[in-house]
Amino acid sequence: MTAEVPVLTLDGAGATGKGTLGLRLADWLGWHFLDSGAFYRALALCALEAGLKPGDERRLVSLAESMELSFKTRDGSARVFLGTREVTAKLRREEVGRAASINAAQPTVRAALLETQRTFLRPPGLVADGRDMGTVVFPRAPLKFYLTASQEQRTLRRHHQLKEMGLDASMAHIGSALSERDQRDGTRTAAPMRPAPDAIFINTTELGRDEVFACAERWVRRRFQVPATEESGAGT
Ligand code: C5P
Repeated sequence: MTAEVPVLTLDGAGATGKGTLGLRLADWLGWHFLDSGAFYRALALCALEAGLKPGDERRLVSLAESMELSFKTRDGSARVFLGTREVTAKLRREEVGRAASINAAQPTVRAALLETQRTFLRPPGLVADGRDMGTVVFPRAPLKFYLTASQEQRTLRRHHQLKEMGLDASMAHIGSALSERDQRDGTRTAAPMRPAPDAIFINTTELGRDEVFACAERWVRRRFQVPATEESGAGT
């Protein structure tokens, strides 16, 4: 019998620190990283550019099936490509996030993206970031985290992220966009955003990046028997 490829999942709302933590864990462990939100965002971008009407499920599914999405990781940040075109910054725009969340409520759209997400599970292991990683995509993952943070802190973080990417928006606008998306993602019937019953909660409101990493690292070492002597990079 072949050994199962290890996977750890990170779920939770936007701007709770999942992406930062996930990339760092993947880098430390030497595992693959799945940014599942990028699938929904890339599909939304394709749909917006193609002028699709909201709710045009049939064409959305066909776009999802033909989309050529790829990732490159460099210096702890992930770059996203559609074919040969880099779309990293475009995907972060709020209108893309909003459209992604509207499309993501369609069960047929989720089904069209499911198997491609699962193909990321390859040796030596996978860190999977999203809303339904621990509940639907990898329900048998031996380690699942669910990240939370106050609305105020999330708004500040998203504002900072957008600024770093040369995009700008008012705090009020960011806050209401996050709330609208939480509401939609958390109440849809298909794979709603929610913690798996066996998820470990990390509230990142008062924690810096190193503290969030250190907290997750302890669980990872225990669950996957990573030797304590191995360099974690915490504090760097
Ligand atoms: O995480 P991110 O903000 O990039 O995700 C964009 C949107 O994609 C989310 O608001 C959510 O509606 C959708 N999504 C999802 N399931 C995932 C990841 C993202 O429904 N696993």
